[in-house]
Amino acid sequence: MSTKGPEGGRLAGVRAAVTGASSGIGEATARALAAEGARVALLARRTDLLEDIAADIGPSATAYQVDVTDAAAVRDTVAQVAEDLGGIDVLVNNAGVGSMSLAADADLDEWHTMVDVNLHGVLHVSHAALPHLVAAARGERGIADLVTISSASGRRVPKATSNVYAATKHAVGAFCEALRLELGPQQVRVGIIEPGFVVTDMTSDRDFGELEALEASDVADSIVFMVTRPRRHGINEMLMRAVLVVPGLSARR
Ligand SMILES: NC(=O)c1ccc[n+]([C@@H]2O[C@H](COP(=O)([O-])OP(=O)(O)OC[C@H]3O[C@@H](n4cnc5c(N)ncnc54)[C@H](OP(=O)(O)O)[C@@H]3O)[C@@H](O)[C@H]2O)c1
Repeated sequence: MSTKGPEGGRLAGVRAAVTGASSGIGEATARALAAEGARVALLARRTDLLEDIAADIGPSATAYQVDVTDAAAVRDTVAQVAEDLGGIDVLVNNAGVGSMSLAADADLDEWHTMVDVNLHGVLHVSHAALPHLVAAARGERGIADLVTISSASGRRVPKATSNVYAATKHAVGAFCEALRLELGPQQVRVGIIEPGFVVTDMTSDRDFGELEALEASDVADSIVFMVTRPRRHGINEMLMRAVLVVPGLSARR
């Protein structure tokens, strides 16, 4: 995946932090933001992966090891990111986990982990970054962005096994809507992205059937689109799904 963008770019001078940047959608997002000229902080637990990705992106990227379930560690790391970059204009809350099983078969630890990462993690990171986003919005760019990766399962529960995963993503949607109401007047745009199936480590054991599954770069493109709108234009919610491949349809065109 090429990440090297031209000097400048639509996000030149923008300081971005991406959680869950060691793989999948987060990695693609960090690369896409950097390709548009942003300086990017990559946050996750697996430092070896983070450092390789940051080195591949170049000097505009820095790796930070943090577990988003640890509120104190998140507070310290976000403060360090803001100090290193001189502020935070764009936060992408992407770190997440998903395990699907019927409630009758479920492992309670897996349920707790999903709530800890997908909900508490988003709360920890958002809370730590908020003052920096509000301060950045008062600067030259005149706007800041908080983007959270929810899921199509945050809109509608797709199947019984989505129980707790969908519950965490619904909760994130409600939290972000309240944040939007609070922060809009302070020029912080708050938006969620709700992808359907995306080919990443999280879905490596899934059978997509006739779906032409989304790529991580498709979600990254959507994030870049959201954060490059004019200041007046906030995208609050973006539902994106893979296209169902209908056999024979393309042959009839
Ligand atoms: N793939 C899909 O079909 C799909 C669809 C809709 C929404 N999403 C959402 O997209 C987001 C990214 O998922 P993905 O598909 O790109 O999966 P992925 O490749 O497995 O990426 C998950 C990322 O989250 C990080 N992470 C997990 N637990 C963490 C923790 N405790 N602290 C810090 N970072 C943590 C992982 O990094 P470390 O392990 O290095 O910490 C990794 O970078 C998730 O929020 C997911 O719910 C995915």
